[in-house]
Amino acid sequence: MEAGRVLISEEEIAHRLKEMGDEISRDYRGERLLVVGVLRGAFMVMADLARHISIPVEFDFMAVSSYGSSTKTSGVVRILKDLDEEIAGRHVLLVEDIVDSGLTLDYMLRTLRLRNPSSIELATLLLKEGVQRVPVEARYVGFRIGPEFVVGYGLDYDQLYRNLPYVGVLDEHSLGVC
Ligand code: IMP
Repeated sequence: MEAGRVLISEEEIAHRLKEMGDEISRDYRGERLLVVGVLRGAFMVMADLARHISIPVEFDFMAVSSYGSSTKTSGVVRILKDLDEEIAGRHVLLVEDIVDSGLTLDYMLRTLRLRNPSSIELATLLLKEGVQRVPVEARYVGFRIGPEFVVGYGLDYDQLYRNLPYVGVLDEHSLGVC
């Protein structure tokens, strides 16, 4: 299944995730880290990033819903699955596939901070530049991209294309066939 133009190749993603994993391992050396993946989009980033983290690490997942089948944010965030772990007193790293408006993340960070973690930081594969509706502080950013709608590597359009090994820009032709 093709999805228009390749924006970030499989090789570029693999290379960057290795760099991010090394950086995270350095920054949290001597600590035990809880890495929280935001489903569904972050499942692929999580799996590949995890393999490059070399400190003691635990994993948990949250599932949120911020989009229906459209390509624009609704601004409404629903928690579909909460964490299994308690996070009070722990170092938490949230892993996202993409930050767009920042509304999903802002909501999640505000919710999780109320549980008193020792620290909470964000790692995101993609950050759309200049489109945030709330300020977002992401400590680890894979790639800064433009405002176009992208799919692949966990990202979907109407639940399709998540399995693409690269990040692609969805064109009108692709929209027509899915
Ligand atoms: P935000 O709340 O606008 O920052 O959007 C966060 C969520 O919207 C992401 O975790 C994605 O699931 C989805 N999203 C935002 N932009 C895109 C895109 O370009 N392609 C696919 N999903 C996107």
